[in-house]
Amino acid sequence: MRLLNRSAGRLSRHRRGPLAGVLVIIAGLLLTGGIFTAVVNTTAQADETVSNTEQIAQGRDLFLVSCSFCHGQNGEGIRDEDGDFLGPPLIGVGAAAVDFQVGTGRMPMVQPGAQVPSKPETFDDEETAALAAYVASLGPGPAIPTEDDYSIEGLSDEEREAAITRGGQIFLTNCTACHNFEGSGGAMPHGGYAPNLGETSARHIYEAMLTGPQNMPNFANGNLSPDEKRDVIAYLYSLREMPDYGGFGLGGLGPVPEGMAAWLLGIGLLVGFAIWIAAHTTRTTKKKVDA
Ligand code: HEC
Ligand code: HEC
Repeated sequence: MRLLNRSAGRLSRHRRGPLAGVLVIIAGLLLTGGIFTAVVNTTAQADETVSNTEQIAQGRDLFLVSCSFCHGQNGEGIRDEDGDFLGPPLIGVGAAAVDFQVGTGRMPMVQPGAQVPSKPETFDDEETAALAAYVASLGPGPAIPTEDDYSIEGLSDEEREAAITRGGQIFLTNCTACHNFEGSGGAMPHGGYAPNLGETSARHIYEAMLTGPQNMPNFANGNLSPDEKRDVIAYLYSLREMPDYGGFGLGGLGPVPEGMAAWLLGIGLLVGFAIWIAAHTTRTTKKKVDA
């Protein structure tokens, strides 16, 4: 009893001390903080599921209006009388394919042709995300990559140098056949073309590799790991920062057109010079004759 009394006394003595006040405040803050986070977390989770269902519903509405007459009411694809796809099935193409196709303005396709070109986007970011969520809900497929996957901003200078070197190698083996050494693009059979990569965003470069649009093969993460994909992005971005070494770049079209230009220019100059010499000598000889 004495002990209790004494400890109670000590407690109350401490309670009156300045330290006790601070401790009580800290404990109170921690407790309310804990409760607050717990509550917020559960509501946030609930919000997420609600907004995901809402997003899919919004995406489906947009899809029915803008996409279903080619891709089918449920993304199952539609064939024309010849048996060719008006729009291929989208089950399992994943959110990444939609983000790429709609984000680069390729979809909704407006007119059939050898290749569906990119154009200013029809849908804003929110609508694109909704369409992607809807198509992703049809069947599992590659998700939209996160900034961690494709962004090269966080790399230190050394990491970036190394990434550019590796990316250049990967690009050389896997992409130059169609896109050229400088990523400036090139013609493909049947009237198609591999586009210039000089302005494609990091996210769309990543998604193009992941989903292989149209005549481009896809480089799934098993073939080309996320790190390797980011290396390729680092390489393509480094080309944009490269200074132009004077003269006409000719768009990096390769040795044949460049050689051709050298010929025409060089020969032209020589011919011009020859004419000048000829004219000059005639004039001087004439003068001599006069004199
Ligand atoms: C006029 C017809 C048409 C319309 C409208 C259309 N598409 Fe397409 N879509 C196509 C065709 C054709 C292809 C195949 C292109 C190719 O691979 O050559 C395609 C391809 C795609 C792909 C790529 C599939 C893959 O395998 O990677 C996606 C994703 C897609 N469309 C989404 C959409 C969405 C979303 C909309 C609506 C906003 C839409 N499309 C509207 C005709 C259409
Ligand atoms: C067989 C030829 C071929 C190969 C190999 C190839 N591509 Fe492509 N690529 C294409 C074609 C064709 C398109 C156009 C597709 C379209 O318009 O939907 C394209 C489109 C792209 C685009 C979209 C560009 C834009 O802004 O519209 C990117 C990015 C891209 N390719 C990157 C790559 C990378 C990186 C590699 C190597 C890992 C690669 N490609 C390998 C043929 C190829």
